Amino acid sequence: VVRGFSSSAVRNVVIKNVTIIGGGQMGAGIAQVAASTGHSVTLVDTSDDILKKSIKTIEGSLKRVVKKKFADKPEAGEEFIKKVVQNVSTSTDVESAVQSSDLVVEAIVENLKIKQDLFSRLDKLAPPHTIFASNTSSLSISDIASSTSRQDRFGGLHFFNPVPMMKLVEVIGTPATSQETLDSLLNFSKVLRKTPVSCKDTFGFVVNRLLVPCIMEAIRLYERGVYACYYNSDASKEDIDIAMKLGAGHPMGPLELADYIGLDIINSVIEGETKDPNNPLFNSSDLLNKLVAEGKLGRKTGEGFFKY
Ligand code: 3HC
Repeated sequence: VVRGFSSSAVRNVVIKNVTIIGGGQMGAGIAQVAASTGHSVTLVDTSDDILKKSIKTIEGSLKRVVKKKFADKPEAGEEFIKKVVQNVSTSTDVESAVQSSDLVVEAIVENLKIKQDLFSRLDKLAPPHTIFASNTSSLSISDIASSTSRQDRFGGLHFFNPVPMMKLVEVIGTPATSQETLDSLLNFSKVLRKTPVSCKDTFGFVVNRLLVPCIMEAIRLYERGVYACYYNSDASKEDIDIAMKLGAGHPMGPLELADYIGLDIINSVIEGETKDPNNPLFNSSDLLNKLVAEGKLGRKTGEGFFKY
């Protein structure tokens, strides 16, 4: 699996065994694409109930993939699903889960201290060659990596929701990330049949730096009632979404997309510690805060800007 490494310099890590920490939407999606491309995946979360739900999510998504890919061969499709699910084992014991891991991808709650604590523990447990990566969308990779003694083998792997459909992976290197680690992460992304782009460790990387201001501007337009116009104020949310779908070719309107991503996640991006506080593009919104406080987090809770 690993060719020629010493404890100080790691070269050419071929990633076969992948540990994904966090079985939510993103973690389950990453596990699915890694398992679908022949990796041996261990999905870790804090309870068996959560992990059962993650496997259900993976099975549901695989059914949608197979419907298209194996349209004429339903049996081969069933076989494919079985094989992929067999490639995923689940665990609530992070200690044993990282012992033979080539790559750890973390997709847990967006909290710097919790991520640092996790990685500092894993650093002592994982083999020297293991690469650590975070799927964070709002925190600095350098800050997370600083809790470990393997900053050269630490990077960002930022996936997009829904992971099985979205072709992009942002691969983030810090000034301490080695070229070998970056190459391994770029290569891993390609093996997943995704297109990687290299990003510096800056706030929002590329996609969220551009997409989240668009979503926040849409929320502000709605809040200001710009479209609660002359005769039909009820349609204002829909109008904003229709405008961006039909006028800019976006697959989802910004408010529908906010619900899809999760309003709590949008909030955690705009509250990111590394943002420029003088940049108004990332200012908070009373309406967004109100919805989050009411537990209306979007599609996952049945209500956000829209009801599901
Ligand atoms: N798993 C597998 N397949 C899926 C799927 C999933 N989770 N979700 C959708 N699909 C498939 C469907 O089965 C369908 O297949 P078909 O073409 O064979 O019928 C196809 O995708 C299209 O789905 P739908 O017809 O249900 O709906 P859409 O045409 O609207 O496509 C979408 C769904 C791909 C989600 C599309 O609406 C889209 O691209 N939306 C934008 C998503 C986006 O911008 N994501 C990025 C968010 S930002 C982020 O994640 C970063 C974070 O840090 C915040």
